[in-house]
Amino acid sequence: MLPDISINTVRGSDKRIGIIGMGMHVPEKVLSNADIEKMVDTTDEWITTRTGIKERRIAEPGTATSDLAFPAAKQALENANLAPEDVDLLIVATTTPDMLFPSTACILQARLGLVNAACFDLSAACSGSVYAIITAKQYLLTGRYRNALVVGAEALSGFVDWTDRATCILFGDGAGAVVLAPGETGGVVTSHMGADGSLASLLCMPGGGSKYPPSHHSIDRRLHFLQMEGRELFKPAVRRMAESVQIVLDRAGITQEHVECFIPHQANRRIIEAVAKQAGVPMDKVFMNLQKYGNTSAASNLIALYEAVEEGRINQGDHIVLVAFGAGLTFGSLLIEW
Ligand code: UT7
Repeated sequence: MLPDISINTVRGSDKRIGIIGMGMHVPEKVLSNADIEKMVDTTDEWITTRTGIKERRIAEPGTATSDLAFPAAKQALENANLAPEDVDLLIVATTTPDMLFPSTACILQARLGLVNAACFDLSAACSGSVYAIITAKQYLLTGRYRNALVVGAEALSGFVDWTDRATCILFGDGAGAVVLAPGETGGVVTSHMGADGSLASLLCMPGGGSKYPPSHHSIDRRLHFLQMEGRELFKPAVRRMAESVQIVLDRAGITQEHVECFIPHQANRRIIEAVAKQAGVPMDKVFMNLQKYGNTSAASNLIALYEAVEEGRINQGDHIVLVAFGAGLTFGSLLIEW
């Protein structure tokens, strides 16, 4: 029999920062594996067995990341019962900002009317939403900020090389959003984040920044598309996520058995299964929706969290773990009492 635990008995901060509102948005257009079969030399069978992905959502040309973020953020604010002026802080986690500057957060702020919010983007690739929630939590813990809006949003389809079968099958567009605020019960119990920049070249988009500014040469070399060494990423993805889960459980003084739902970054079903095995988590506690959306990078954990709640997989008082891994490399986890 498991010992009875609550946020009051697990080790963590005395103050509680919780999720008080959620939203998500994905484009309408579905791109199935059968559609991709017509574009590159691949099969539905290969994609399904190697990744678990069946389809992904693709934004219409001309759609900016802020266009995807806006409905998700608006829904999260309504869900939290907050007026736009109540938001003190907006963080947008994205690898596909509308432009190099200004930040997508500032563009989104104007559309949402968050006149009192400090705004910035956070670049941690697929770990972006976990990093952003941890960052917002620190601001809220100081007491200086009361409400924070965290958005993970990606318009990846514009940066995917649709001639590269090794990567174009994996990614999709979408956005998720949460509102964070201090609360009486529940909330973030503890968290972990880390990075290993020595493996930065395994997943990157080299062109368009200061190293390779746009030029005919950079375009000819296809430097403005996402590049990935998938096979080399697989092992560190599994190891770092399994370690990160263990770290937050250890920090809270609980075990896998005390956690009702694990929400991993939705990159690849085989990665998720290997993480679960290594972390000692049964698959029936693991939430997956990558079959519908593919890898939506910084939006992935938040879209999965939203749907896990919608589907009744998370109930009040449950302990949930969000765990992420991405380019950088970056990785991190959150233990939340719901
Ligand atoms: O968001 C976080 C960062 N992303 C990740 O963590 C992704 C991590 N990596 C992965 O998910 C997997 O490595 C992939 C799904 C990308 C690839 O799966 P894999 O089992 O590692 O395949 P592989 O790269 O070792 O390729 C196996 C074979 C190769 O052929 P040869 O060299 O064995 O003849 C590839 O050329 O499969 C071939 N291949 C394909 N075949 C059909 C690669 N892509 C495809 C494809 N369709 N789409």
